[in-house]
This record gives sequence, structure tokens and C-alpha cells, in this order.
Amino acid sequence: MRKKLIAANWKMNPPPAGWDGKNSPYRPDKKIDVAVFPTHIDLQQCIAAGLVAGSQFGRPEVSGAFTGDVSLKMAKYLGCTYALCGHSDRRQFHAETDAFVAEQADAALALGLIPVICIGETAKERAAGKTKIVLERQMKALPMDPRIIIAYEPVWAISRGDPAVKPATTSDAEETHAFVRSLLPPHLRGKVRILYGGSMNGQNAKELLLQPNIDGGLVGGASLKPEEFRAIVEAAIEIPHP
Ligand code: PGA
Repeated sequence: MRKKLIAANWKMNPPPAGWDGKNSPYRPDKKIDVAVFPTHIDLQQCIAAGLVAGSQFGRPEVSGAFTGDVSLKMAKYLGCTYALCGHSDRRQFHAETDAFVAEQADAALALGLIPVICIGETAKERAAGKTKIVLERQMKALPMDPRIIIAYEPVWAISRGDPAVKPATTSDAEETHAFVRSLLPPHLRGKVRILYGGSMNGQNAKELLLQPNIDGGLVGGASLKPEEFRAIVEAAIEIPHP
């Protein structure tokens, strides 16, 4: 069974209003997995308030001369459950390579953190017909372990706060998810969860989540609006797990 996971990627934003309330949509649910990825500054208070959380980034080294960084070990120590690895913001603005993303995923697994590993092609790569080549390259570097979670996030569909950005069409998303699943070794194809990320919102979530190869969402912009995020969580709750 692949339990749906709806994860809020708050990026460099404070937790949204009401995040720690009794009725907060960011709280764990009985039927599906719900998680938040706050800034490193906010992680501790989110975990203390009972949310299931993950780090947006963590270095594989335990400690050392890496000014401004935190290690995955520190994230684990704080009580994180998940570790986001290789988000396109990190690949783009921090020059993270496939090899470095794989190192993070390895280190996360060794620490008992669940790596949520982001893959996805840019608009330029897509226009050049290179989507599959890019995904193959990104997947090839990764540890093939049943605990990993993949987040397919086409970079051109990530909203970056712009409501004009459109998500992948449902059929395109499902087709690409099926392709990503085919890149997993046969014994992991039924086990590894593949999330969709890129302009998922309260309106389009149900249709995306109904697809057989889409096991949840990594939600950016819409996760900063509690009622929008609640609608996504509720859509996921209604859909049976494959
Ligand atoms: P978005 O971001 O939902 O705002 O498109 C997704 C992400 O970057 O993880």
C-alpha cells in the first residue's frame, strides 16, 4: 500500500496563520501522511507543536566548516521525520549536483530520515525534448531503497508565487509519473511513493491525486494558504491508496 503524502513546502516563509491551532490543516491525519517543511528556524516549534516535519535541506556531513548550513544529523536530532533533497531551488541557487543530492539521500537513510527527493526538468530541457533523459540521469544517481520518496516537480510548473504558472496537465503528469516509476527496480515499483509538485492547489488536487501513479503532493504556494492546503488534504483523504 502506498499511503498518500501531502507535504507543505513553506520555503523561506514563516508558518501560515493558525498553523499550530487545534484545527490546523497541517496536523497529522489518521488516513494519510501530512508533513510540513518549514525553515530551519521554525522546525523546532513545529515539531514541539506536534506537526510531522522535515528539513528543507541538510548537509550529509555531521558537522564542520560549512558556514550557514545545517546537517541532516542536526535535523534528525531536532525530531525531523523527512529530509527534502535536491529541490530545484537548491539545484538552481546552490548548484546542487545529482551526486550531492544522492549523498544527502544516503545520509538521510542512514540516520533514519525519509528522503523526499526532488527531480524534474526545466522549461528549456522540456522544450528540447530532453525530459526523459534528465529524469533518467537524476534517478540513476539515487539510492534505490524502499524508504525513499520521489517528488516529480517539473521546474516550469513551480509557481514561485506567480498564479499565472500552470501545473502539468493531469495526463502529462500521470504519464511522466508512470515513466519515473518504470525507472525504479521492479521490486520497488509498487512500494516507492512518487509525489507531484508544481502549482498543485485546492482545485486541481483531486484530479491529480486520482491518477494511479501519483501518490501525493509537494505543495508550495498553496501550502501557505491554510484553507487551500486543507482542500488538498481532504481531496487526498477521499482517494483510496493503491
Ligand atoms: P508550488 O511549489 O506548489 O508553489 O508550485 C512546489 C515546490 O516548489 O515544491
